[in-house]
Amino acid sequence: MPGKKNLLLGISGGIAAYKVCEIASYFTKKGVNVNVVMTEHAAEFVAPLTFEALTKNHVYTSLFDGNGPDPVAHVNLGRTADAVLIAPATANIIAKIANGIADDMVSTTVLAANCKKIIAPAMFTGMLENPATQRNLEQLRKDGWEIIESESGRLACGAIGSGRLAEIPELISAAEEALFADEQLAGKRVLVTAGATRENLDPVRFITNRSSGKMGYAIAKMAKTMGAEVTLISGKTEIRPPHGVSTVSVESAEDMYNAVTGKAADADIIIMAAAVADYTPAEYCAQKIKKSEGDNNLVLKRTKDILAGIGKDKKPGQVVVGFSMETENLLENSRKKLVSKNADMIVANSIASENTGFGVDTNAAVLIGKDFEHETGLMSKEELAKLVLEKAAEML
Ligand code: CTP
Repeated sequence: MPGKKNLLLGISGGIAAYKVCEIASYFTKKGVNVNVVMTEHAAEFVAPLTFEALTKNHVYTSLFDGNGPDPVAHVNLGRTADAVLIAPATANIIAKIANGIADDMVSTTVLAANCKKIIAPAMFTGMLENPATQRNLEQLRKDGWEIIESESGRLACGAIGSGRLAEIPELISAAEEALFADEQLAGKRVLVTAGATRENLDPVRFITNRSSGKMGYAIAKMAKTMGAEVTLISGKTEIRPPHGVSTVSVESAEDMYNAVTGKAADADIIIMAAAVADYTPAEYCAQKIKKSEGDNNLVLKRTKDILAGIGKDKKPGQVVVGFSMETENLLENSRKKLVSKNADMIVANSIASENTGFGVDTNAAVLIGKDFEHETGLMSKEELAKLVLEKAAEML
């Protein structure tokens, strides 16, 4: 992540406060300067010391904290923040912020902040649904806050209902986007495909491949973080769609072809990370295929090559990136794909090592263009996503 950014993390008094430790830790590890302010009630749930240890910064719980290094911390922390995230947000802190009340460290610091602000409510269902809380949330929306809606599930009181703090990865994505929204792809539209397609044989069986979708999802998420408007066209995966990305689920290669061609014209960058079936059953059998004596032959027909179609109809200024998965002759075959599919770049990756390719969180690739070849070495799929997007942005 480029540059040193400041995240202001405001924590109010809810049991979900313990989950937010992960957010503080995540951003600190990524090199973000995380400043935590807590209400006194929040400090009953998690000791400020926990956040101090995670962020290496003093945690303020009071406006008159004689131990902190800055006597006017509420002004300075608010003023220097690149993004504010309030999580968990109780009905009380929501009400205070919505009405401009500043009588504790969190509400006061937030009032001094002039940056992208995100709030994640978490409370008992009845309190959330109360017209007063809904009115306050509506006011925050009007004031430009991004509300990360709570989820349904088991609450601390044992009841099942809405009011559970949204999942932590969702909060992280939203904060990441807010912190880095001014980055390289601001104002650009990025279309990404991910995952495996599924070719149905009958109502019971299908042909697919080992793609997990992790690489394509990492690209979609990173493109969003870099400020782009992102559409993700995804085959079936086990991964949650990244926050703020418009995700279209598809099943077969044909579905993916239709979804991609419908959206390609508007995109500045198109990245085809999906593992698309090259063949599909020649005929779909509406009833389960019954076994019979002897062997059976499966007749397959070719699917359309989506990337080649996009490459052929490429608009001026558009950057088209394909992936190439090989088990042998990686460079030679990938260079051929660059030409045959009229792509601007091919991300060539091999499944030769257990740390690259399907299902794992790391990858290594060679980025191949008309006048460059760059070997990345082993890295996380997020890091590779960033390299690919930076190169694509450069080519735009
Ligand atoms: N691709 C596509 N449509 C297909 C097949 C592949 O758009 N029907 C895209 C993939 O998304 C990827 C690139 O083409 O970006 C290369 O995919 P790959 O499977 O490596 O190569 P293929 O073109 O399928 O060729 P082969 O299977 O012979 O290696």
